[in-house]
Amino acid sequence: MAQMWRLGMKDMQILPASRHRSNLKKPTWIIVLVSLVILFLICAYVYPPQNSTACYVFSSHGCKALSNWLPPAPMRELTDDEIASHVVIRDILSMHPSLSENSKIAFLFLTPGALPFEKLWDNFFQGHEGRFSVYVHASKQKPVHFSRYFINREIRSDKVVWGKISMVDAERRLLSNALKDPDNQHFVLLSDSCIPLRDFDYVYNYLMYTNTSFIDSFEDPGPHGSGRYSEHMLPEVEKKDFRKGAQWFTMKRQHAVIVMADSLYYTKFRDYCKPGMEYGRNCYSDEHYLPTFFHMLDPAGIANWSVTHVDWSEGKWHPKSYRKQDVSYELMRNITSITESLHVTSEEVKEIQIRPCLWNGNQRPCYLFARKFLPETLDNLMLLFPNYTSI
Ligand SMILES: *[C@@H]1O[C@H](CO)[C@@H](O)[C@H](O)[C@H]1NC(C)=O
Ligand SMILES: *[C@@H]1O[C@H](CO)[C@@H](O)[C@H](O)[C@H]1NC(C)=O
Ligand SMILES: *[C@@H]1O[C@H](CO)[C@@H](O)[C@H](O)[C@H]1NC(C)=O
Ligand SMILES: *[C@@H]1O[C@H](CO)[C@@H](O)[C@H](O)[C@H]1NC(C)=O
Repeated sequence: MAQMWRLGMKDMQILPASRHRSNLKKPTWIIVLVSLVILFLICAYVYPPQNSTACYVFSSHGCKALSNWLPPAPMRELTDDEIASHVVIRDILSMHPSLSENSKIAFLFLTPGALPFEKLWDNFFQGHEGRFSVYVHASKQKPVHFSRYFINREIRSDKVVWGKISMVDAERRLLSNALKDPDNQHFVLLSDSCIPLRDFDYVYNYLMYTNTSFIDSFEDPGPHGSGRYSEHMLPEVEKKDFRKGAQWFTMKRQHAVIVMADSLYYTKFRDYCKPGMEYGRNCYSDEHYLPTFFHMLDPAGIANWSVTHVDWSEGKWHPKSYRKQDVSYELMRNITSITESLHVTSEEVKEIQIRPCLWNGNQRPCYLFARKFLPETLDNLMLLFPNYTSI
């Protein structure tokens, strides 16, 4: 169809010349013109405006007007698995969240082994017994614990390979173990290099008294975003819905349950989003599965930014790792006072997307946690903790 249209355009350009030479009689060129207009309308209808060649003929404004005027393009017929998946998810989402005085936040630590900031977290949890629970997935080595809040909190774990689906599997394992406790109403995924930026009450109120999950999700048209998409994910996952985001989420209970209920989208990402795909392409499920899944199934239920701060400003493959000398009151104040989220695309000309961090509709500080801190920063952080959490 697109091919036909391009031919049509060429005809249109040579039309006046032909007419001049009187090769075409009047009724003939009216018929040609009318056919072209019809052809154009069919093309515009079949190919939606955002990726249609036809659109570039007119200004984008004209195109929008046209798409408003046309009836909506027919919906794709859903597959059996999709219908089943959608009804289950819709039903879970329609249940009302039940907060009570017993409601807890589950802190899910995903670590290879040691937890260098256990002492800091111990400080953070102290005095708030009964309002949180801790789960540890140690994939390589069982950590030695110093804090009573961490002792015997390991769940059965399995090997985790960076960038592979085993990372998502570990996240799911943490969620399912934490879901066993009906009092857990919000779930926070943390790594061994994460630290708290606020005191417990601040974090508790921030996460509990909102209906959104803080799941990072944005559209990156560049090679490290949509460039990782594989058409094998069709028909259920279309390129236009493919999203990217940091792995470190916080999630409402309902959202954790729909992640457990999902096998359709999970399977797509397990099979077609992994390192070393065809044509040497790499895809990392932990950066794309949940951002895409929630964008497709409950876009209004997620905040689109992560409450765990990380500094990518050095522009390297890995984010900045804070060393002992980097940690100061000023650094902590800087991070805790940020009220806009920032996303940078991976195109040649990088686009920077800045959005206010809206909490129940009001602009608020974006971050509750931060990474990546090296173990050597512990003493400094312990000293500063009472200060920076009282900002
Ligand atoms: C969250 O949803 C519940 C139930 O739908 C509603 O009663 C409550 O007001 C909502 N809370 C916020 C902060 O929007
Ligand atoms: C998150 O982005 C989606 C579009 O992907 C949008 O529909 C939704 O409103 C956004 N969420 C918030 C809280 O702004
Ligand atoms: C804190 O922010 C100020 C203003 O943006 C900047 O000049 C300063 O270098 C930052 N300090 C640290 C330690 O990041
Ligand atoms: C921490 O706060 C106290 C009281 O506000 C202040 O006296 C002290 O200098 C602060 N410490 C640091 C390291 O900023």
